[in-house]
Amino acid sequence: MAKSKTLFVCGSCGYEAQGWMGRCPSCKEWNTLVEEKIHPTGDKAGKPSAHLNWSGDSGVRSLSEVSSDHQIRFSSGIGEFDRVLGGGFVSGALVLVGGEPGIGKSTLLLQICDRVHRDGKILYVSGEESQTQIRMRAERLDIRTPSILLSSLTSFEDISLIIREHEPSLCVIDSIQTLYSEELSSAPGSVSQAREVTAGLLRIAKSMMIPIVIVGHVTKDGALAGPKVLEHMVDTVIYFEGEESGAYRMIRAVKNRFGATGELAFFEMTDKGLTEIDDASSLLLSGRPINAPGSVITATIEGSRSVFVEIQALLSPTSFSVPQRMAQGLDRVRLGMLLAILEKKFSLGLMNTDAYVNVVGGLRIDERSSDLAVLTAVYSAFRDIPIRSDTLVFGEVGLTGEIRPVNFLEKRIIESRSLGFQYCVLPSANKQIIEKISKKISSNTRDKSAENAIIALPEFIFVDSLSEAIDVLFSSDR
Ligand code: TYD
Ligand code: MG
Repeated sequence: MAKSKTLFVCGSCGYEAQGWMGRCPSCKEWNTLVEEKIHPTGDKAGKPSAHLNWSGDSGVRSLSEVSSDHQIRFSSGIGEFDRVLGGGFVSGALVLVGGEPGIGKSTLLLQICDRVHRDGKILYVSGEESQTQIRMRAERLDIRTPSILLSSLTSFEDISLIIREHEPSLCVIDSIQTLYSEELSSAPGSVSQAREVTAGLLRIAKSMMIPIVIVGHVTKDGALAGPKVLEHMVDTVIYFEGEESGAYRMIRAVKNRFGATGELAFFEMTDKGLTEIDDASSLLLSGRPINAPGSVITATIEGSRSVFVEIQALLSPTSFSVPQRMAQGLDRVRLGMLLAILEKKFSLGLMNTDAYVNVVGGLRIDERSSDLAVLTAVYSAFRDIPIRSDTLVFGEVGLTGEIRPVNFLEKRIIESRSLGFQYCVLPSANKQIIEKISKKISSNTRDKSAENAIIALPEFIFVDSLSEAIDVLFSSDR
C-alpha cells in the first residue's frame, strides 16, 4: 500500500508546505494552511492511462483533420450569462462559478437548468440542500421543468456513475466543497479532495462532451478550499461580485478558454430569483443626488460595453495621526497616489483629512480612466461646490498632473446623450478620435435621421492638466 504523507495545504491558493506556517508564503493570507493526510487508498482504477487522450484513443491527428462539429454552443437561456460565457455553453466545458455564500449561485444555476436551450435531461447535484429544499426553491422561482433530475449524492464515484447512466445535456454540481472522492482519505472541502474531484469532472466533461458547471464557495478564512485552487484546471471561471446585502449582483468571467474575459453581467435579486438588467448605467445612476458636492459621473469600460457610474467622495477632519484613506470599489494605493497629486497641485491640507471614496452600486473599477473623476469628486467635496450633474468626466491622471488619453471612446460617449449628459470633460489627446467619431455619428444620423437623432453628442471640453480640468469644472460661469 502506498505510504501516507502529511502536507500542509493553503485553502486559498493551494500552496503546499511540509510544516505549518501562520501565513501562506504564496498568497500572503493568514491562517489558511491546514493539515492534510494524503494516502491514496485505491488503485488507479477509473483514471485514464497516461497514453490515452480524452476520447480514449491515442491517435495523433493534424489540426485540420480534427472535427469542430461537436464544439457547438448553446444558450443558457439567460442572455447576460451567455454574454459572460462568450456566447453560451460549449459542449464539454467545465465552468466554475465562484462567490461568497448567499450571493445567489444556487439560485442562478437552478434558473439556468430551467431555461437552458437544450433537449435532454439536466442533472442538478446538490450536496448542500435536500431535494425537498431544492423543490421549495424551484417553486418560489416558478420552475416546473420535469427534465431536471436532482441528486443529493456527494461521492464523486457515485456521481460519475449517474452522469454516465443518464447522459445529461448539462450537469450542475453544487458545490465542489461538499464532494469527496473515495480514493482519498482527506475530508470533503480540503484542497486535495477539491482538486481530485475537479480533475475527475474534467475527464467526464471532456470524454462525454457534457458541459459541467461547478459551484465553489469563496471563504475568507481558508477553512474550505477556495475556487482559486481550481482556476487553472477548468475552462471558464466566473465570479459573483457586488455586495450580498444590496439588490444587485454582478458576474464576471476572469478566465475563459472559449471567449473574452472581463465581461460583466448585471442582475437584480428579486423574490422570483435573479433577473437580468440590460441597462445597467441608468440603473446605477438612478436615485443619484443632483448637484451634490463630492459626486461625479464617469464612464468605465466593462468587457465589451461601457457602464456609467457615480463616484462619491467625502472628507472629514481626521482624529488619527495618520489620516484614513478608504476606497470602496477602487484601489486604495491608487487613491493615495491621486490624493498626493491633488495635494501637490493645490495644497489643500489633505494630510489632516480622512478621505472616503466610493463607487456607487458595488462595482469595482480597475481602469485608470476614472482618475480624473475621483480627483474632481474629492476636490468638489473639499470645496463643497457641486459639479453640474449633467457632466461626464474621464481621463487618466499622471504624476505631474497631466491628463492622459483613454481608449474605447466611442463606447464611452455613445450612451451619454440618452442618459442626459450635456458636457463631457476628457483628455485633449483624445481630440482627434472624438472628431472622427463625431463625423461618423453625424453621417449615420443623416442616413437614418429620425431614430438616430437622439444620439447627438454632448459638448466636449478637452483638458491637458488637472488644473485645467478643475478650472473648467468649478468656474463660476458653468
Ligand atoms: P443562494 O442562491 O442560496 O446563494 P448561494 O448558493 O450563493 O449560497 O441565494 C441565497 C440568497 O438569495 C438568500 O439570501 C435569499 C435570496 N433569494 C432571493 O432574494 N430571492 C429568491 O427568489 C431566492 C431563491 C433567493
Ligand atoms: Mg448555494
